[in-house]
Amino acid sequence: MIPQGRLLVVGGSRGIGRAIATAFADRTTVWARSTGVDAADPAAVRTAFASLHERHGAPWALVHTIGDFAEAPLLDTDEHTFTQQFTSNVHTVFHAIQTVVPSMVAERRGRVVLFAAAGADRQRAMLRAPVYFAAKAAVIQLGRSLAAEVAPAGITVNVIAPGLIDHEHSHHASQARMLPRVPCGRLGQPDDIVGLVRYLLSEEADYVTGQVITVDGGLQA
Ligand SMILES: NC(=O)c1ccc[n+]([C@@H]2O[C@H](COP(=O)([O-])OP(=O)(O)OC[C@H]3O[C@@H](n4cnc5c(N)ncnc54)[C@H](OP(=O)(O)O)[C@@H]3O)[C@@H](O)[C@H]2O)c1
Repeated sequence: MIPQGRLLVVGGSRGIGRAIATAFADRTTVWARSTGVDAADPAAVRTAFASLHERHGAPWALVHTIGDFAEAPLLDTDEHTFTQQFTSNVHTVFHAIQTVVPSMVAERRGRVVLFAAAGADRQRAMLRAPVYFAAKAAVIQLGRSLAAEVAPAGITVNVIAPGLIDHEHSHHASQARMLPRVPCGRLGQPDDIVGLVRYLLSEEADYVTGQVITVDGGLQA
């Protein structure tokens, strides 16, 4: 059982992250801009970590859910959007794992869950959002490498690849367009992800690491 405050949900103020934070209630610490932590700023991440560590000790689990979505063909993507997509999806992951995971290694215990997107590991054209999927492919690669790096310390690292998950801030027009390609016939809900996170954080998942697990209702993208 994760002790109070020692499940760190980076990006837990809304959407999927909030559903995870809510499910684990007072065992969770949330980092989001709206809670005063900009995860794109390494100094802010280090300060937030020092405060968390002082209050609760090293996190038992890191669930990183940040990842803005930009839908545009590659040739229509401007420099700002390109940089922003990598900052949001990749740099925040890098800052979080570099800051938090060493404390897990020191304690020889930990769980890391990252978020990609369904299809990001298929290595084919992703016409809807090529920069976003390139960034998510980078997250998958970082996750797999980290998994191998920290497995000897008893830490697991896995990547969840959601399909179309509906919540108050999701991209409703894009999701409505894609819905006919979901064999299950409905959009996913944040709670469809929470059960998998619960499993990956449990002792039963101790031998599951370096995996990309898709939760998309069978999406044919
Ligand atoms: N929803 C979907 O259909 C879907 C599909 C495929 C993949 N995914 C992936 O699944 C993950 C969760 O998706 P979601 O839809 O729940 O995301 P979301 O609604 O965009 O929520 C992202 C969270 O990250 C926080 N955040 C964003 N930038 C931040 C920053 N610089 N520093 C600190 N916090 C920051 C936001 O809070 P603040 O604004 O308060 O900072 C918010 O809590 C993402 O990685 C997304 O790419 C989602």
